[in-house]
Amino acid sequence: MELNINGKTVNVDVEETMPLLWVLRDELNMTGTKYGCGVSACGACSVMLDGVATRTCILPVAAAAGKSIKTIEGVSSDGSQLSAVQRAWIEHQVPQCGYCQSGMIIAAEALLDQNPDPSDEDIEKAMTNICRCGTYQRVRAAIKSAAKLRAGENSLLSSL
Ligand code: FES
Ligand code: FES
Repeated sequence: MELNINGKTVNVDVEETMPLLWVLRDELNMTGTKYGCGVSACGACSVMLDGVATRTCILPVAAAAGKSIKTIEGVSSDGSQLSAVQRAWIEHQVPQCGYCQSGMIIAAEALLDQNPDPSDEDIEKAMTNICRCGTYQRVRAAIKSAAKLRAGENSLLSSL
């Protein structure tokens, strides 16, 4: 099966029903995406599928074929330049144990791609990931900072 992951074409030889999460982790050794609940409840396994934050622990890999898959490994533009969300995460020291955070960042990136200036209510509605360390307030603050950083980058780009 051919998959498009972080802008690259990747071939995998797996059962069509294998969850995408296990293809990423076990077949491709991309371990940034985490296993939490296994029942699509916690969001730790989120990736972007055609720009939409999607939980992969129960998603058959065949459902991702032909779509653009972005994982946490593909969030920074070239692997070295941190995204606005990642920089805001550092600024607000969001992670505690860190386990849920790749899923949180994916959800935040997808939210800001769709809604560049989300309200508290928008954030609450979109960010349904579970964090056992209770980082929800910092996540909200970091998303607001990331929105400002992104707006600044966009106005800089449009002035060039
Ligand atoms: S591991 Fe997929 S939603 Fe929890
Ligand atoms: S930072 Fe520990 S579970 Fe979220």
